[in-house]
Amino acid sequence: MPTAEHTILRELIAQETGWVSGSALARKLGVSRVAVWQHMEKMRAAGFAFEAQRARGYRLVSRPATLHATLIETQLKVTPRNFSMVLLDLVDSTNDEAARQLAAGRPAPFVVLARRQTSGRGRFGRTWHSESAENLYASFAFRPRVAPDRMQTFTLWMGLNVCELLTRFIGISPGIKWPNDILFEGRKAGGMLTEARVDADQIRDLIFGIGLNVNSPAGTLPPDLARRAISLSDVTGAPVDLNRLAAAMIGRVQLAYQKFTDGEHLKNFADLWHRYDVLRNRPVALLEGGRRHQGIVTGLDDEGALLLRDEDGHTQRFRAGEVTLEKAS
Ligand code: BTN
Repeated sequence: MPTAEHTILRELIAQETGWVSGSALARKLGVSRVAVWQHMEKMRAAGFAFEAQRARGYRLVSRPATLHATLIETQLKVTPRNFSMVLLDLVDSTNDEAARQLAAGRPAPFVVLARRQTSGRGRFGRTWHSESAENLYASFAFRPRVAPDRMQTFTLWMGLNVCELLTRFIGISPGIKWPNDILFEGRKAGGMLTEARVDADQIRDLIFGIGLNVNSPAGTLPPDLARRAISLSDVTGAPVDLNRLAAAMIGRVQLAYQKFTDGEHLKNFADLWHRYDVLRNRPVALLEGGRRHQGIVTGLDDEGALLLRDEDGHTQRFRAGEVTLEKAS
């Protein structure tokens, strides 16, 4: 349900940096100019900056650097049907919060966003550093009701969609490192964590979590991570509009999920994988269950497993594992 704040922001954003008259806003909302001014003050407190002139009205000068629910909603291109959004200031993990909300019966699909996480998680139970409110932490919840083997390539497909989105959004293409890393310049800008609960051979629900380093310089991370990490603003050399990115991500993830469940993703999965994959024909080491395997990556099989050719020319497939690029000999 759009509020007065949605209407005001929509009008101001439509004018970009142009002026919107206070009385036009008051007329549109059916309230007094004083009431409009009160809304503007509330928005100022939330991090917006406006210029106000008696004769011309209001002009949007800057937007909050951290996530803001109305600003995200206002910038959604299509408001997906039956889709809801939760934005929290602080949470343990957005994946855990999404799981709690699913367990409490919240209708899916929905997204949980947080400005910061106290226990952000990655694969293998690793910590996802989430102290900076200038980054994106999001978990999308779905109830796909399909057999688990239908979802094997889900995270890979979502990763490709994140790559496509980022290419359009910042004009520079990332790479994807199987199975869940988004890289720029060989350094990690984002990671994905998909968690599903299965009931009698059917997926009961599925949570797709994504963390993206957006505006917090990688140099602010602990030193061992800083060398391997990068943020979008490190890549572009300028701040990235976090709320616009969050809105674009919500739209893209919804669409990608739809295409996946319809089977439509099969049309261009292989092409996209070819475009963004950073491992093909590269020598790698793969750690799996305490064992280290070495070889050249030759691609993926239909189930999304990584194909590795060893020095004897044998190809092995891996459903899971941690890959590191080796120097070519
Ligand atoms: C990885 O690279 O291993 C995956 C990292 C996934 C991090 C995101 S941040 C939002 C969501 N909540 C979590 O606790 N984890 C994911």
